[in-house]
Amino acid sequence: MEYETPLFFHVMEYADRADRDVIDMVSGNPDWEPPEALRDGLREYADLEPDRFEYPPSDGLRELREEIAARRGVDAEQVIVTNGTGEANYLAMARALERGRGDEIILTDPVYPYYPGKTTMLGGTQRFVETDEDGQLDPAVVREAASEETGAIVVNTPNNPTGAVYPEETMEALVDVAEANDAILVSDEVYDHFDLSGTFSSALRYESDHCIVTNGFSKSMASTGLRVGYAVFPEHLIENARSRHMLVNVATTRPGQYAALRSLRETNPAYHEANRELLRDRIAAFTDALDAAGAEYTTPEGSFYVMARFEGFDGSLENVERLIDEAGVAGMPGEAFGDSRGDWFRFALVTPQVTEAASRLAAFFE
Ligand SMILES: Cc1ncc(COP(=O)(O)O)c(C=O)c1O
Repeated sequence: MEYETPLFFHVMEYADRADRDVIDMVSGNPDWEPPEALRDGLREYADLEPDRFEYPPSDGLRELREEIAARRGVDAEQVIVTNGTGEANYLAMARALERGRGDEIILTDPVYPYYPGKTTMLGGTQRFVETDEDGQLDPAVVREAASEETGAIVVNTPNNPTGAVYPEETMEALVDVAEANDAILVSDEVYDHFDLSGTFSSALRYESDHCIVTNGFSKSMASTGLRVGYAVFPEHLIENARSRHMLVNVATTRPGQYAALRSLRETNPAYHEANRELLRDRIAAFTDALDAAGAEYTTPEGSFYVMARFEGFDGSLENVERLIDEAGVAGMPGEAFGDSRGDWFRFALVTPQVTEAASRLAAFFE
């Protein structure tokens, strides 16, 4: 069996090798500062006693699990600290399939490409439901697709790549569909601090025993290299997930967890507000310049991606490579996110050069 390897690293490497200066808008790697407390935590760690370099508890540092639990309104016994949200999603999807109540995983189109990759890797079957043009998911469409074959429904809000933020009614209905079909709703909320609309609603509020929520600090602490995330399980599902995490990873980085804990405790809301403000400015600058280029585009309600479409130039990998070589702008092909956005490109607003990038695109398409 071949796994579907997401294209992100391939495109990043292609852009790195290019023979010219390229503005990197490929991946969701924030270019802004991590919280000062995160840097302090890492610096401090280097001088701690040797026992702090020993294995941490497999499911995470107790204090970090308690801090996460208090913030999310759950019990610390429900939390596993993972190697990023990526592992949290893997544990959640694996746990859902292990129940043996259906091997189909309902995914959205467009989709964050790691979900279909993981589905196949775990022996599950992919079933896609389309979102609307704005990236919103109609729960009635999910209800229609769900059946006794459904093991899980995997959603992401705020969404990568569409920028949609699902309102409370959507989340409530999705929990209901999962419960009605004895399936698990996996809600990936890694962009929760990047809700620009004020409408974000966590699946945790429904306290459902059919729901697993995943999250991490890669985006909220601008530190994709830290590799600390977590999953919140209903208590009846957590035991096997703990064992899987232990068997695959032994444990998660101890210095990283320590620094994340310090950052959670000491970083005030102004840090997150400033990052949202920065993004709002970048979205406005990038989309204004795309207007000037005559492109069609999405204006995200959350996360940090803009999708754009240029007439007569489809969102293929080949065209992404042309934009890198000929325009000096690197984005992701829309076709990497599913069939529905094959005409589009996704640009991550993780560079101060967003206006320059859009001008380069305008010049290329002139
Ligand atoms: C929707 C989504 N989930 C998970 C991840 C991976 O997050 P982490 O770095 O915490 O593993 C990303 C990263 O881009 C993402 O966009």
